[in-house]
Amino acid sequence: MKILAIETSCDETAVSILECSGDISHPQFNILGNALYSQIKIHERYGGVFPALAKREHALNLIPLFKKALQESNLETQGITTLETDHIFKLLEREPELARQFVDYIPTINKPEIDAIAVTAGPGLEPALWVGINFAKALGIVWNIPVYPINHMEGHILSVLTQAQDEVKVPALALLISGGHTELVHVENWLSYNVIGETKDDAVGEAFDKVARVLGLPYPGGPRVSALAQEAREKELPTPFPLPRPMLHSKDFAFSFSGLKTAVLYGVRNNPDLTEDQKKGLAKEFEDAVTEVLTTKTKKAIDEYNPCTLILGGGVIANSHIRNAFLNLEKKYPELKVLIPEMNLTTDNSMMIGIAGYLNYIAGKSSSLEFKAQGNLRLN
Ligand code: KG4
Ligand code: ZN
Repeated sequence: MKILAIETSCDETAVSILECSGDISHPQFNILGNALYSQIKIHERYGGVFPALAKREHALNLIPLFKKALQESNLETQGITTLETDHIFKLLEREPELARQFVDYIPTINKPEIDAIAVTAGPGLEPALWVGINFAKALGIVWNIPVYPINHMEGHILSVLTQAQDEVKVPALALLISGGHTELVHVENWLSYNVIGETKDDAVGEAFDKVARVLGLPYPGGPRVSALAQEAREKELPTPFPLPRPMLHSKDFAFSFSGLKTAVLYGVRNNPDLTEDQKKGLAKEFEDAVTEVLTTKTKKAIDEYNPCTLILGGGVIANSHIRNAFLNLEKKYPELKVLIPEMNLTTDNSMMIGIAGYLNYIAGKSSSLEFKAQGNLRLN
């Protein structure tokens, strides 16, 4: 079957079309078309994602991206689809620009061979989520196909399913580390999630971004802090002062990164004359602190839950130091397979939403035209 997948939860507008087959333990995916637009440049000057702007950009770019994905899939054929324009404007009344583009484009093509739509329902920025949801519902009505609301975090976990199938076994543990989330999830069975630990305050990516700001680096700071840390490793630069490892030895699987970020902030304030090399050393110390906390907590969870697979997901796993630390766990746990999605599936994308959509479909979960955006949607 073919699934159209839509993601608009944060600052990436993404649309893809996937050919999906196989059963829940051996699903197969072929990406027929994929189009993504990152708004990072637009939000850069605000030092973070600005929700109203994100919403406007999603509404502006969704149809062009959809068109691109459709063409790439060779599924766009010129034709006539009758639309009740008033109905569409009503469905998309909160997105007038999207409605205008919708009534300009959709009537000029035939309904493509697409069987279902999967769209992110949450978590994320609600104004941004609504754009994708309203578009998905309007298309679902016009083409008379089911729409599946998808949890974005489930998408991150299931991204690894595009890799060698035999390696993805349950029970699994997933560590999701992004700009908005830090979660350890026990996946006892496919589509059965239990969040066993999460951050009490800042997400890991958020801490990276805030530390970057303290060091005078632009948003998103994660890759920049990581580049400084890398230089410090190569040159063996020391840190000007040590940083804490918050909650390293707490009995639970909870995380906290706000104190670590504050330690960087006060340290820099108290040492206003840090040299460039000292800043690099500090970036390395920060990266080490984060890595130590993440790996220690994950090892503790592995010991307790004994998973076959450890899945890493979210934008922060693009960090090569953190990535390697987790890949090294295979040495300590020879029975454990550590899986990290390919780079383009690590950061926010719509392919993962399509994958989750297919699994929801084969598991018999119900489609809906009634669901809402849920900014704080949880996994369990
Ligand atoms: O998953 P993602 O693309 O979007 C969210 O759902 O948040 O993650 C973005 C986050 C940002 O905070 C960014 O700074 C961080 O991932 N990030 C990194 C690296 N690349 C991206 N953090 C550390 N090192 C990196 N190389
Ligand atoms: Zn994400």
